[in-house]
Amino acid sequence: MKPPQSVISSLLLALVAPFAMAAEAPAAFKADPAKGQALAGACGACHLQDGGRGVPANPIIAGQHPEYIFKQLTEFKSGKRASPVMMGMVMTLAGGEADMKHLAAFYASKTPQPGASQNKETLALGEQIYRGGIVSKHVPACSGCHSPNGAGMPAQYPRVAGQHAEYAEAQLLAFRAGTRANSAQMTGIAARMNDREIKAVSDYMAGLR
Ligand code: HEC
Ligand code: HEC
Repeated sequence: MKPPQSVISSLLLALVAPFAMAAEAPAAFKADPAKGQALAGACGACHLQDGGRGVPANPIIAGQHPEYIFKQLTEFKSGKRASPVMMGMVMTLAGGEADMKHLAAFYASKTPQPGASQNKETLALGEQIYRGGIVSKHVPACSGCHSPNGAGMPAQYPRVAGQHAEYAEAQLLAFRAGTRANSAQMTGIAARMNDREIKAVSDYMAGLR
């Protein structure tokens, strides 16, 4: 049997040790928009300086949720989301996932500019799909996840409001074709939509704000 003194000191040690260890642990990582901005120079060639409205082939990333941006960057790197251009770009980030988090924080901090729908003839169809889904084909309402105004829901559901219609349409077609295979949810949804429905809802989302 231990003498009382050593029992007391081992009890004390057990109490104190976790705090001592916490104090010695490295400071928690914090994504820093300023560091992200410093890394974003090369990205600006396609996404503009602040991730805003450039040519339609390049997505608008200003104001996108940081968790979503980070997920995409890691998946471009792993190849889970195939894009030769973006895979090449993320490979140049020497700081790996830390750089991706800084970049995500930078673009998320930017205010997206509003866009506009272009096609009056399909606007009603697009709105109906966005807000009510396509009941006969079991397509759920987009607003259920991407929110009624298209702002999305952090951290799971990306912002779609004001996105280039051409880009959104291309992504929905890629989900349907299986060439973008990083979201089982979106693959399942796009699989039940025809070209006309995809085009209409993409144009409608471009005008959401
Ligand atoms: C040469 C042009 C180009 C450059 C440079 C570029 N991108 Fe991209 N980026 C694209 C294209 C095109 C896509 C769409 C890829 C696809 O179709 O899946 C994209 C997609 C993305 C996405 C996904 C957006 C979404 O809504 O899903 C993010 C995030 C992104 N880029 C961030 C970056 C960052 C950060 C950099 C700099 C390190 C960068 N890009 C540099 C062209 C570029
Ligand atoms: C059950 C939830 C859910 C519903 C309903 C939903 N989405 Fe999504 N959507 C997601 C998730 C999650 C992602 C992100 C996938 C990823 O991580 O790459 C996404 C991504 C997208 C993207 C790609 C965004 C980008 O920047 O590349 C588009 C476009 C899109 N959804 C359109 C739609 C449309 C149109 C509808 C309605 C027909 C819809 N979504 C319904 C969950 C949903």
